[in-house]
Order: sequence, then C-alpha cells, then structure tokens
Amino acid sequence: MVLFKPIKVAGLEIQNRFVRSATHEWLAEDDGAPTPMIGDIYEELASNEVGLIITGYSYVNPSGKSSEFQQGIYDDRFIEPYRQITFRVHKYKSKIVLQIVHGGRQSRVSTENRVAFAPSPVIDSSSGITPVEMNESQILGTIEDFANAAKRAKEAGFDGVQLHCAHGFLLSNFISPYTNRRTDKWGGGIENRTRIIVETIRRIREMVGVDFPILVKLNSTDGFDVGSSKIGLTPEDAVEIAKILEQNTVCAIEVSGGIMEAGEVMSKHAIDSMEKEAYFKQYARMIKSAVNIPIILVGGIRTRSVMESLIKEGYSDMVSMSRPFINEPDLVMKLKYRKIEKVSCVSCNRCFDPSGIKCYH
Ligand SMILES: Cc1cc2nc3c(=O)[nH]c(=O)nc-3n(C[C@H](O)[C@H](O)[C@H](O)COP(=O)(O)O)c2cc1C
Repeated sequence: MVLFKPIKVAGLEIQNRFVRSATHEWLAEDDGAPTPMIGDIYEELASNEVGLIITGYSYVNPSGKSSEFQQGIYDDRFIEPYRQITFRVHKYKSKIVLQIVHGGRQSRVSTENRVAFAPSPVIDSSSGITPVEMNESQILGTIEDFANAAKRAKEAGFDGVQLHCAHGFLLSNFISPYTNRRTDKWGGGIENRTRIIVETIRRIREMVGVDFPILVKLNSTDGFDVGSSKIGLTPEDAVEIAKILEQNTVCAIEVSGGIMEAGEVMSKHAIDSMEKEAYFKQYARMIKSAVNIPIILVGGIRTRSVMESLIKEGYSDMVSMSRPFINEPDLVMKLKYRKIEKVSCVSCNRCFDPSGIKCYH
C-alpha cells in the first residue's frame, strides 16, 4: 500500500509517506526556549509512526518573532533542550526536522521589537503595520541568522531543517511581487526575488556541509481572490522557484499557500467533502512535474482515498497534515491497523489556541 511505502529524502530513510506539517504549539518559554511539553507532543507522534515530524516555526532572530510562546533557535543555549527533544523522537523510527523562520512583515511589533522588517514597506491590511524596508546589511545579517540556526539544529540532532518560505513570513515576502517591490538585486525578476533563499542555502552549506538535508515549505500562491487589485505570487512563479531550489540542493518541497492579508487560505475551515480536500493539489502537481525531488502536499487532506490518490496520480510523494494530528496523534496507526477511512478533524480551527494547541471537537 503506497502510503506505507518508505521513501528516501536526500539521505533520510522515511518509514512511510506521512508528514506532521509544522504546527506552532504556543508551548515555548517567553524567550523562545523549547519546553519538555513540546517534546511530549513529538514523542507521541514518533511512537505512533509519523514518518517525518516538522517542528513548529522557530525564529532565527528575536526581531523575527511572530507569536507568543513561539519557539526560537537564535542562541546556542537552545541546543541542549532541543537535543533532549530529538533524542526522545529518535528512540523511534521517525525523523524530525526543525522549521526555521523570520517573521518579516508578519513579525510581532511590541515594546522589544518596535518595527517589522520586510523587503519593501507595503502595509499589511490585516495588521495595519507598515514594515521597514531592509537594507543590504540587514539582509546579509538575516542570511547569517538562518545559517547559524541550521548549524544549531544540526548540533541538536535534528535530521534537517525546513526553510519557511510560505504564509507571509520573511522569505515568502521576498519571493512575492506583492510584498517585494525592490529594484536592487534582491527584487524584480524571479531569480532576484529568490536570491535571499539561494544565498541562505549557500551559507548553510558552508556551515553544515553538503549532506545535511534542507527542505523548503513553499507558497504556491499568496491567495488573493481572482480579480483583486493585489497581484501576488503565482503558481507559475512557484514552479520556477522550485526549479531554482532543486538546483541549489533543496531535497524536498512542501507545497502550501496563503499570506495573512489574503484571509483564510492556509488552513481552510470546514473541509467536509472530498472535493474540498487537498486545496493546493493542482499547484503541487505543476511543481512536481517540473522537478525530481520529493513533493510534500499540505492543506486539508482528510480521507484515506484522497491521500492514496494524491500519491498514485502524481500530485505529491508524501501527505502532510497539521490539524488532524492535534486531534489524533495516533492517526497513522489508525490508518495502518484499523483501516479507518477518514480523520476525525472537522477543520473548525479552534486549535489555534494561544493557551497551547488542543482540539476542542
Ligand atoms: C495551530 C496551527 C499552527 C500552525 N503553525 C504553523 C507553523 O509553525 N509553520 C507552518 O509552516 N505552518 C503552520 N501551520 C499551518 C499548517 O502546517 C498547515 O500548512 C495548514 O494547517 C494546512 O494543513 P491542515 O489542513 O492539515 O491543517 C499551523 C496550523 C495550525 C492549525
């Protein structure tokens, strides 16, 4: 059965096709230090045979923190608590990858961080914040922050890192022509808009070597309505970006979509029919047919037959879920041994809970 066939992602042997998509848990300390409660969640997923676990988004610099109780990876003091988490996961066959992020235009503005940084000063109508345009040295400094974060991730025993290039955070701000209006080498055509990611990968490679897996979560669209005056990233752009990423040693791409300003695009609610499932699948297929690295699809995947057909019909190589694993950490076991047809998550979105993720259904 295709869902339980192992797959290799770079050198990583993954026991099946299931990915726990990055999910912010609101369980870190104020300063971003990961807590054992985060380890409890990942250990439970690992003991239930989730092939690949991607952590919640971890900020590489305090200026790029987006949420309360978000985990960080901006200092060496976090290596040891993360090591305890990867140790717990590696008692099982699961692999674990740290998602690293800078919040960019969607960073939290507070008394510590008085401004949000982004490629261009384009107001975010969802928050009312106009970010400050980054200068060259801030861009280079952020690349260095990502590389140091990857080095710490490797030291902490993670099996790789995932660069968060989706959902309206800094790296996705750069690839989108809506949020990137620059006319220097960091903006303009696709190659220029992707430059910050390519330079980040190059610097990570210098620090951690050629073998450490680098994955990317990539927006396939910013998600503005058709006919909107806001013209964002297109799926055609995403295909070109995916090709550049593949040429630059990225070993797997997770296809997602949406930025905060475009409304509910990333985690759509009420996925109550098969037609509503896997809402980025057409874009994943476009990307998959342009590259040879594994494609991971996320977004509203809820039934066994959809999961199977996504892989069999060439939309993706792996299926990734976030909300269903909050409700059922033992989902993979239920699909494997009890042959359930459907996850029980109803996509009500009440799991976005700043007191710590939980399912209320
Ligand atoms: C509570 C919650 C927290 C999330 N945190 C992250 C995150 O840290 N990084 C990320 O890339 N996506 C995050 N997402 C988005 C999910 O990874 C996923 O892309 C989205 O929810 C669609 O998948 P689903 O339908 O299986 O939930 C989060 C989603 C939820 C529900």
